[in-house]
Amino acid sequence: MNERSQWGTRLGFLLAAIGSAVGLGNIWRFPATAYENGGGAFFIPYLFALLTAGIPILIMEFTIGNKYRSSAPRSFSKISKGMEWIGWWQVLISFVISTYYPIIIAWSLMFAYYSFGTKWGADTSSFFFNDFLSMTDPGSFGSIVPNVLIPLLIVWTIVFFIMGKGVKKGIEIANRIFIPTLMIIFLIIVICAVTLPGALEGLNAFFEPNWESIMDGSVWVAAYGQIFFSLSIAFAIMITYSSYLPKKSDITNNAFITGFANSSFELLAGIGVFAILGFMALQSGSSIDEVVTSGVGLAFVVFPEIISQMPASSLFGILFFVSLFLAGISSMISITETYIAGVQEKFSLSRGKAILFGAGLSFIISLFYATQGGLVLLDTVDYFINNYGVALAGLFEVVAIAWFARILKDLQNHADGQSAIKLGWWWRLSIGVITPVVLGYMMLQNLRNDLEIPYEGYPLDFLFNFGWLLAIGVMFIGALLTTKKWPSKDHEA
Ligand code: PHE
Repeated sequence: MNERSQWGTRLGFLLAAIGSAVGLGNIWRFPATAYENGGGAFFIPYLFALLTAGIPILIMEFTIGNKYRSSAPRSFSKISKGMEWIGWWQVLISFVISTYYPIIIAWSLMFAYYSFGTKWGADTSSFFFNDFLSMTDPGSFGSIVPNVLIPLLIVWTIVFFIMGKGVKKGIEIANRIFIPTLMIIFLIIVICAVTLPGALEGLNAFFEPNWESIMDGSVWVAAYGQIFFSLSIAFAIMITYSSYLPKKSDITNNAFITGFANSSFELLAGIGVFAILGFMALQSGSSIDEVVTSGVGLAFVVFPEIISQMPASSLFGILFFVSLFLAGISSMISITETYIAGVQEKFSLSRGKAILFGAGLSFIISLFYATQGGLVLLDTVDYFINNYGVALAGLFEVVAIAWFARILKDLQNHADGQSAIKLGWWWRLSIGVITPVVLGYMMLQNLRNDLEIPYEGYPLDFLFNFGWLLAIGVMFIGALLTTKKWPSKDHEA
């Protein structure tokens, strides 16, 4: 008997996969990345990366999950014993992300609340760093900040509740509510944004192609990096989610839908963000170039400032921060599921116990980021775990599958056997050659950069402990986990 959880409907699976993919990366990472790497011309490397890495790897991970019907480490161990640790490594990367991702969701929640009457005042930067976070010097932690702790507790309660309800009644239903709501809210934001004065200048700046940038290797690295992070691939997530698919599911089509839906949202966010930046530039009499930022600064410093100047500012603020919240929480659920599934299978635990241990531990660690030094810690961990976690784990994954296990043909047969679109040589070439070459190059570039210049000029011992040591540490803990045998009762049908 197969007792494995299963999605209720195909749409439910798709919304969950899209929910994982559509996250903060779409809203605050893509627009600035595209702008800084050639504007309109960036779409060429970006589309190339989507078609040669993003969608092919998504197809591969959906196939692995659907074929082996297990968590990522168990699925990899069924391919070859030696591959199990790549699965744990990816699960641990997801675990690390799950310790700080809820912090950003908590900030969003709090800022949705602050939107009533635009509480951040005129100096949004000082409000965010001093009044809201009570920040200390980089490298020290200080005490826990109640402004962050309270929304954090709310976020974790929601996460525990959804996870506790299980795959079909929890994750699927949550995404069925969150994702359509997010799409509607975001559409309203973008429609309002493009009608603002100055919007057109913003869009012109965003789309204006700088063709020379295409010749620059770092632009291609940025495109691949964006695709990896944005599609949640090489995080063990998509393998876990597709392991709950019914046996005969159209894999390839699902991967194309997920990939294009995510990129469409990304483009929409680019339009919205740049229309709004255009408005800001006009208001402050500066150029677009001066107002572009990404990440935390964009969402919590620049946007509040713009929102204050907008008509119906409180309402607009609420819509914006609620959309960050929804985009974030659906991704958070997906990373949490990866380690819950892994731990549950490895230690034969009930789902409830796996949630209690796994997410419970993540919750405790998350409290460190709720301190006065939390932002610097978050920034460091995020940077290192993404650059040396995801890119490297992704590289190991494709090389192991294409060159050591040599199962691309088997996987292709499995996908083709149940998908309308048939895979060809382009798929094997993408996974076996193009992706490893680009990821390898990306690793070397990142390493060179970070060894030359300490990230953000943070203290060296801090970067060593929470950057390098953590990124390397998860590989070792991953290896340690493989020493325990899988329970004999197999979840395979
Ligand atoms: N895909 C998410 C985004 O675009 C990021 C993410 C990756 C979230 C991995 C969770 C895990 O924002």
